[in-house]
Amino acid sequence: MGRLSGKVAIVTGAAKGLGEADARLMIQEGARVVLTDVDEANGARVAAELGAAARFVRHDVRHEDEWKALIADVMVREGRLDVLVNNAGVVEAGDIENTTAENWRFVMAVSADGTFYGCKHAIPAMKASGGGSIINMASVACVDGYPTVLSYSAAKGAVEALSRSVAVHCVQNRLNIRCNSIHPGSMDTPMVRSMGQKLAEAGMVAPPKTDAPPPPAPVLGAANDIAWAVVYLASDESRFVNGHKLVIDNTVTVTSGTLPPPRAN
Ligand SMILES: NC(=O)c1ccc[n+]([C@@H]2O[C@H](COP(=O)([O-])OP(=O)(O)OC[C@H]3O[C@@H](n4cnc5c(N)ncnc54)[C@H](O)[C@@H]3O)[C@@H](O)[C@H]2O)c1
Repeated sequence: MGRLSGKVAIVTGAAKGLGEADARLMIQEGARVVLTDVDEANGARVAAELGAAARFVRHDVRHEDEWKALIADVMVREGRLDVLVNNAGVVEAGDIENTTAENWRFVMAVSADGTFYGCKHAIPAMKASGGGSIINMASVACVDGYPTVLSYSAAKGAVEALSRSVAVHCVQNRLNIRCNSIHPGSMDTPMVRSMGQKLAEAGMVAPPKTDAPPPPAPVLGAANDIAWAVVYLASDESRFVNGHKLVIDNTVTVTSGTLPPPRAN
């Protein structure tokens, strides 16, 4: 308890899934959290549940003017900004041969553009606050090849590379701002639960060819398995962790899918 006392954080895409879990644990550890999302109903509900340390702002990460307004509002109302979790993301099915320009642009706009705008506009506010920590949600989809979610994999690659360059910029300019990326495996969230349906609708799931039993379903991690890492990276405990790519996948990338899916520990 109290690992984030006195800190003010913004978590994007906080109406559900990993972002909601991040906001809950950060508040449990003493932070004040501004939850943002395009899903107003769930965002407002979660913030109300979390009480006085939380407030919800409707915010679409794709638009730079909304970032400017959000950061200005936080600096007026909360008076500082210590942590930004660029968590909002979307996934669409499609491989290199059938991904449309619209699919590519949409996924890139949320993950790559949104993370770029977030870093760009948070840094002046963090400078004014004496430093900060930026945590960018990437994925194992940019560590291994994920051909059926091509635009998602590419967008997360952009997030990873952006994060390293932001970290080095902040060190070179002595800004006392850190920037790291987190690369989750499959976690139990609405995004992952909807993925099978999206792939099927795009015709990207081959029907079974034999009567053999299907392979065991991969065991999903819990949202808090990522949120505890967010708490650590947001806290001063990680003051020397910077420009790091933190993979949290219970060995999925270590074995490159050549072994059966991991069992929960
Ligand atoms: N769940 C996983 O297994 C997993 C694995 C790797 C990476 N990730 C990444 O973690 C992040 C959270 O994933 P999740 O599984 O919780 O997803 P989710 O779909 O369950 O929740 C994402 C939230 O982002 C919001 N959002 C979407 N577009 C937005 C926009 N333009 N502006 C603001 N908010 C927007 C949605 O409304 C939603 O509330 C994403 O960046 C995702 O790519 C998730």
